[in-house]
Amino acid sequence: MRPHHIRDVLFTDAEIARRLDTLVGALADECRAADFVMIGILRGSFMFLADLVRLLYRHDVHPRIDFITLESYGSGTESSGQVRVTKDITLDVRGAHVLLVDDILDTGRTLSFARQWIGEKGAAAVRTCTLLDKPSRRVVPCRADHVGFAVENHFVVGYGLDYDGRYRELPYIARVTFLDEPG
Ligand code: IMP
Ligand code: MG
Repeated sequence: MRPHHIRDVLFTDAEIARRLDTLVGALADECRAADFVMIGILRGSFMFLADLVRLLYRHDVHPRIDFITLESYGSGTESSGQVRVTKDITLDVRGAHVLLVDDILDTGRTLSFARQWIGEKGAAAVRTCTLLDKPSRRVVPCRADHVGFAVENHFVVGYGLDYDGRYRELPYIARVTFLDEPG
């Protein structure tokens, strides 16, 4: 791990809660298919998905829920470029309306891979929702249908997001400042 500190909070837990309330209002009507499945991309989406499903419940949305583990990052802050499935979903999604949930849309590789992977399993529709979006980092053209917050090109942690396996438990989102980096 490079020397770093976590001091700049970008979104507090209250700001995240407020944004999710609005987001879920916009999302709920898309979640009314008879067979509606939410799939979280692990591990970064666990907290976001847990909050989303509880808010959607208030809008009378009752999904089936599954997870897929995808890996493209090594232990650092740069994507290796190659996405692989380390744990697949177990639900049958043939004919289902799927909402893919991820923590952050960065190069776009993970989400575009996931969308195709789930589509190939025979889902009737695949929509996407990410908490954060770093549009300036895109390598693969990819847009999410729903985004919580757009962020600058910073490495961020908290609310599920990690740096080298750490900081996922933070209830807020903060910027990582690397002390070996000028500026
Ligand atoms: P992509 O495939 O490059 O779009 O990257 C998506 C994945 O990279 C996310 O699901 C995260 O796990 C990870 N990631 C990208 N940017 C960050 C960040 O700023 N903090 C923590 N994880 C990140
Ligand atoms: Mg990660």
